[in-house]
Amino acid sequence: MYVCLCFPTTERQIRQAVLNGARRLRDIRPVATQCGKCGRCAHALLKQASKALLPAPFNPPCEHD
Ligand code: FES
Repeated sequence: MYVCLCFPTTERQIRQAVLNGARRLRDIRPVATQCGKCGRCAHALLKQASKALLPAPFNPPCEHD
């Protein structure tokens, strides 16, 4: 599915960009830089893909004083 029509970009391409290190809209430019209508969707997809594709950060269960 196309997310951005002004700069034809698919959901799959954005997921691949996340695997390659994209975390913010500016990392997938020029998406959302013309009419801006895809900005919210592209941002939501970036967040969703980041959570789904990347391992959770390591959070130790206890703290040491
Ligand atoms: Fe993405 Fe217009 S649809 S900038």
